[in-house]
Amino acid sequence: MKVLVLNGPNLGRLGRRQPEIYGATSHDQLAARLVDFGSRIGVDVEVRQSDHEGVFIEWLHEAADAGWPCVINAGAWTHYSHAIADAAALVTYVEVHISNVYAREGFRHVSVLSAKAVGVIVGCGLDGYEYAISHLARGVDSRA
Ligand code: DQA
Repeated sequence: MKVLVLNGPNLGRLGRRQPEIYGATSHDQLAARLVDFGSRIGVDVEVRQSDHEGVFIEWLHEAADAGWPCVINAGAWTHYSHAIADAAALVTYVEVHISNVYAREGFRHVSVLSAKAVGVIVGCGLDGYEYAISHLARGVDSRA
């Protein structure tokens, strides 16, 4: 099976952006780690990142057409983009945030993505992506 991991704005700067919050691992290193993790559990993992909302939405449409479950870290779009939420609703997805958004500014406490997510993982660092991939690989929709 294939799982598409989609990272939104500013996540391409992982390792350089606020490392005290997001850690020292670059996006390329994260992608390599997740592909390797997937290969060990029998999942074809593809990781993409974009700072462009339309591109991100087109990737969600592609995933919907292909039937790929997704791991979505939509970055700041999480907190206000109904266009991303509408596109995400077309796929099965786990929402991930590297940091504990609930321990941060109030605007980060709101997610327009959580209601339609299979599950939400926050504050577990980069491990959260592996937890999300594992969950999707089990094929369990915990909303059911
Ligand atoms: C984030 C949290 C968001 O509030 C922030 O805008 C990000 C990253 C996280 O992974 O912790 O870009 O989604």
